[in-house]
Amino acid sequence: MEEKMTVPKIVSLKGKRKIVSVTAYDYLFARIVDEAGFDFILVGDSVGTTYQGLNSTIPVTMEEMLYHTRIVRRGVKYSLVVGDMPFLSYQTSIEDAIRNAGLFLKNGADAVKLEGGIQVRDIIKKMVSFGIPVMGHVGLTPQSLNLMGGYKIQGKSEASIKRLKDDVEALVEAGVFAIVLEGIYEDVAKEITESVPIPTIGIGAGVHCDGQILVITDLLGLDPTFTPKFVKKYRDLHKEVLSALTEFKEDILNEKFPEEGHSFKRKE
Ligand code: KIV
Repeated sequence: MEEKMTVPKIVSLKGKRKIVSVTAYDYLFARIVDEAGFDFILVGDSVGTTYQGLNSTIPVTMEEMLYHTRIVRRGVKYSLVVGDMPFLSYQTSIEDAIRNAGLFLKNGADAVKLEGGIQVRDIIKKMVSFGIPVMGHVGLTPQSLNLMGGYKIQGKSEASIKRLKDDVEALVEAGVFAIVLEGIYEDVAKEITESVPIPTIGIGAGVHCDGQILVITDLLGLDPTFTPKFVKKYRDLHKEVLSALTEFKEDILNEKFPEEGHSFKRKE
């Protein structure tokens, strides 16, 4: 395994090779993702919708995110760990943002991610000035679900494409080291990617981004009720896990488990 991934190494990958990333929320999966050699792991606030059964990421708390960051960290040797700042952990004031971002770093994150553009420029500037690496996130920003009126592709009109580009410019100026582009048209993502000196990481933003990210439970097919267009399901783990558990249940009922070798025998 190569030396540990760092923020400058991630930035230097732009134009050399695609950046590979995925979310993880616990030690077990983080260890596998790390072993697979992903450049960064996002401890996403998507933990709310994937693991907690919530309808949105809005209720996710700092306490929960710090817990997940700690348990991901324990499984990681190589990948950069990025902690996702939850709703209201950075919007209320620069002081709150710095304190909460600092807590992510104290709990094992190497960097933080937050949503927004122009409106978070000054917050990000201050964070970066204190040595906190920040990843931006624009386009379909799930914490603005209520304003967007649902999980909708962004950048449809000329005006909203302009807003998106202005947001990206503000983030670059503020000093982010990478930007997640979520739920935007491929041609807009291409234009943005070619116009910025830092990597863009796409999710539902087409092939031209500098890297890609997916939510781990989506690509592994753990939730059969959720298959958005931008997700490629690499496995159907829901089916696999269900079938293994059904077999186990039947074995218990039919007294086929435990088998001979699974029991402790007293020596004569
Ligand atoms: O929370 C998350 O998983 C994310 C990704 C979708 C980029 O923000």
